[in-house]
Amino acid sequence: FFFDRRSSLYTILFALNAVFFLVFLQTVTGTLALSVFTAVLGSLQFGYNIGVINAPQKIIEQDYNETWVHRYGESIPTGTLTSLWSLSVAIFSIGGMLSSSCVGFASEWLGRRKAMLINNLFAFIGGSLMGMSKICRSFEMMILGRFIIGAYCGLASGLTPMYVGEIAPTSLRGALGTLHQLAIVTGILIAQILGLEALLGSEELWPVLMGVTVVPTVLQMALLPFCPESPRFLYIVRCQEHHAKSGLRRLTGRLEVGDMLAEMKEEKRRMDMERKVSILELFRSPLYRQPIIISILLQLSQQLSGINAIFYYSTSIFMKAGVQSPVYATIGAGVVNCAFTVVSLFLVERMGRRTLHMLGLGGMCICAIIMTMALALLDSVPWMSYISMLAIYAFVGFFEVGPGPIPWFFVAELFSQGPRPAAMAVAGCSNWTANFIVGMGFQYNFLFSPCFVDEIVFLVFIFYFYVFTLFSSYLTNSCTSVTLLSSCFTLCIVFVIFPLHVVTSFYYFLT
Ligand code: GLC
Repeated sequence: FFFDRRSSLYTILFALNAVFFLVFLQTVTGTLALSVFTAVLGSLQFGYNIGVINAPQKIIEQDYNETWVHRYGESIPTGTLTSLWSLSVAIFSIGGMLSSSCVGFASEWLGRRKAMLINNLFAFIGGSLMGMSKICRSFEMMILGRFIIGAYCGLASGLTPMYVGEIAPTSLRGALGTLHQLAIVTGILIAQILGLEALLGSEELWPVLMGVTVVPTVLQMALLPFCPESPRFLYIVRCQEHHAKSGLRRLTGRLEVGDMLAEMKEEKRRMDMERKVSILELFRSPLYRQPIIISILLQLSQQLSGINAIFYYSTSIFMKAGVQSPVYATIGAGVVNCAFTVVSLFLVERMGRRTLHMLGLGGMCICAIIMTMALALLDSVPWMSYISMLAIYAFVGFFEVGPGPIPWFFVAELFSQGPRPAAMAVAGCSNWTANFIVGMGFQYNFLFSPCFVDEIVFLVFIFYFYVFTLFSSYLTNSCTSVTLLSSCFTLCIVFVIFPLHVVTSFYYFLT
């Protein structure tokens, strides 16, 4: 009986996926597939550089120590080492924060494709600096390299979803948009696997692990010339109807693209009537105020869930949770991460963005409660280590169902061509700022707070964003004063209270 029920479930799932693939194959031409693949190579590097810093932490710290001994003739003080390491982790997000605010300018000035091409310079410089830092006995080079590769990732995190969103057919915009996240999580997983001591995570080979990030760079540079520039950009921004038409033909495989052109014409007509949309204008104009606040909140709900506390520091977290092989447990988290992004890829067009986002946040909230309780009981009940590991996996799984992929492509969907670049810049910058705050704050608190401050802070945030999504109509079109008020509240927590919390913990750590 059980077998029958299970096999019919599999048959239904298989049939659903087969239908999805048929629709997918009919709409996806070779050029579209190549262009999306090439663009998400940037996302792959973004993920790689998030995941790469985790496993070799102890080995790189050892090298920092050796450099210190070589320079000053004594071991590095523990506090200095922790600060240097936290800086190496978090400066990546500072690079991302600064460059993501230039996404609008770069994508309008150079065009989407050329901006992606030139951005690769950052990846080259950053990868080389990190790769050479050991030979040159310089942790400064490593930190600078992390900053520059962060700048690359900041630009890529805006340019990729923008380009993919603009070239994707409307019916597949969500699914193709999720590929950005799928490439990020694949990058994280590759970094975790290559980071094993038996592969590149060893004392001698860690510089290769850091430098290998230039490989996708070369591939992207080789492939980008074969991808068409976004036709929407060519037509609406550059007024190049002829080029836009030929780009559309290549992307859709159809000779007749008049209907799409007509739709763009309409968008261009509307855009020509508006003033140029600057970042300031996004907040001033009642037309854009609500969507931009939604965009910022979505990004914050992604980062303040604490997901990167897991991806930056999972080895230490699993150690604290009493897991026997923390490095393999980290890879397990990477596998779950990838698997659930694929689930989201299939669900996003059927279930809708709002439902999935809420499902993800709700699940994460429950997992965070279980995780905190399991960690609290660990000393008296040893098998709680398994529970906390499972809770972490489920937490990651729920994240990838909604809060992981949706914020990235939803911003591109929410805005028309005119305000889109400025909106992507604001959203990207909020994402990276929150990413920085979590990256910098977590290490101090996690290692030194005796009462699970971080777990509880993240739990409160997740719960808040869940309730917010549930009660406000913020993913639909009506703007209420409640939405605005509670957005101000969130921004105040993020940019005032949370940094204060970080500073006080830092003080607590120093004293
Ligand atoms: C999202 C986040 C990124 C995070 C990743 C984890 O892409 O933007 O910061 O590391 O998900 O899968």
